[in-house]
Amino acid sequence: PQEIIVSPSILAADFANLAPEVSGAHEAGAQFIHLDVMDGHFVPNISFGPGVIGKLRAHSEALFDAHLMISHPQKYIEEFAQAGCDHVTFHIESDCDTQEVIDQIHSYGMSAGLTLKPGTDIETLLPFVDKIEMVLIMTVEPGFGGQSFMHDMVERITIIREANPKLHIQVDGGVNKETSKIVRDAGANVLVAGTAFFRHPRGMKSAQLELSQ
Ligand code: DX5
Ligand code: ZN
Repeated sequence: PQEIIVSPSILAADFANLAPEVSGAHEAGAQFIHLDVMDGHFVPNISFGPGVIGKLRAHSEALFDAHLMISHPQKYIEEFAQAGCDHVTFHIESDCDTQEVIDQIHSYGMSAGLTLKPGTDIETLLPFVDKIEMVLIMTVEPGFGGQSFMHDMVERITIIREANPKLHIQVDGGVNKETSKIVRDAGANVLVAGTAFFRHPRGMKSAQLELSQ
């Protein structure tokens, strides 16, 4: 079985204490930090951008995994690179040339990921699975943390795993102790968790164990 990587989403962390939240997540065993960037246009919510990410960079050696929920990713790739992101995932529905943005991300030495909303056909990603390092399967409608896991998205993991056995497959939305097992069985190896990680009643170390074992 593949090694499981946990990528805590700081959307569920205490925004007034982001530095200790981010360093605590890595100390608890998380290898990635998931950074949900929302522009209030592509999704109906506004979160944070490269300025906040750049300030957090000094507080963690985890891989910085940005999830861009923004309409024009091509305008900001350089800023996310300068902020210290290691990986950038963007939406296939965003208003850009998909291959150009993949190339742009790679030109800054970052790895690239593609994702899609639950209502978008999974087939749209297939032409790109050999051009990127990660596919993100959304298991909620992007925009907000704390929503319920959409079970009918699980077959997408199987489709992508069959298309490329080596790709990182990340799952985001409603991932917890129970649903993490379902997505791992389907072939996912990178688990995003916001609520289940930062708001775990017994703390981040317990969350890390529940999600990775
Ligand atoms: C939703 C974000 C998710 C969100 C997940 O648009 O992409 O990363 O933070 O939150 P939970 O784990 O609480 O569903
Ligand atoms: Zn996300």
